[in-house]
Amino acid sequence: MSWYPGHIEKAKRQIKDLLRLVNTVVEVRDARAPFATSAYGVDFSRKETIILLNKVDIADEETTKEWVEFFKKQGKRVITTHKDEPRNVFLKKLSFDRFARVLIVGVPNTGKSTIINKLKGKRASSVGAQPGVTKGIQWFSLENGVKILDTPGILYKNIFSEDLAAKLLLVGSLPVERIEDQRIFERAFDIFAQSIGIESSFNEFFEDFAKKRGLLKKGGVPDIERALMLFFTEVAQGKTGPVSFEHPEDITPVQQEQNQGG
Ligand code: GTP
Repeated sequence: MSWYPGHIEKAKRQIKDLLRLVNTVVEVRDARAPFATSAYGVDFSRKETIILLNKVDIADEETTKEWVEFFKKQGKRVITTHKDEPRNVFLKKLSFDRFARVLIVGVPNTGKSTIINKLKGKRASSVGAQPGVTKGIQWFSLENGVKILDTPGILYKNIFSEDLAAKLLLVGSLPVERIEDQRIFERAFDIFAQSIGIESSFNEFFEDFAKKRGLLKKGGVPDIERALMLFFTEVAQGKTGPVSFEHPEDITPVQQEQNQGG
């Protein structure tokens, strides 16, 4: 279970190339786990960087406020948003200066493409997005001349702990089918159960879930594999209601350091 090291390295190189073209980086994180979804491994320190906590519609509101304070205290620029926030409100929060050349980055599934589409607005998409047109680096411009790279930078984290894998699973950044170790499912369930106050055990919960959803094998045996698949997909999509999986007070100094890039 992990992304392939070669894959991670290639993505890192691509981002480094893109970084040469920009002076501003919008780092899209999932508001439900802003540390687990940080763009670890690439140094943005020489760029104007905005931490964007996305999907606040499905995160716990109080916890999101705590995260905003946490990042502000570190002197970072942080904003919150969600897919249904009107474009003009969102643009105001970003408040790019007119010389900004912007790269949108983040780990998988944090909402980068949705953000790019919103920023593009209703205007025609850039030329290169059409089939048959030479592929290359494409930009689009905002009304005030700010230029934004049309493709997001995708970063793959080095998954150094079960805890990290579990959180990435919960937010849909690590696909369910990539999980090979049962302990990751168990850890993810623990985090989820703790967050919303479920008291049943892993086995009880998933047997019950499988039965309720009619996920049964021959002889009426609960199909746990399919139950896991459906449950974690729904959690990632926020269908289980607003919930956060990480809290600022849980972040240890070691994690803090691991999150500083490098
Ligand atoms: P990759 O291409 O995998 O890197 O994904 P991405 O970061 O471009 O994310 P994308 O915009 O494709 O969104 C991923 C999923 O999250 C989609 O199903 C979106 O509809 C959903 N999504 C994006 N933004 C939000 C949001 O603010 N709230 C909620 N609830 N869902 C969102």
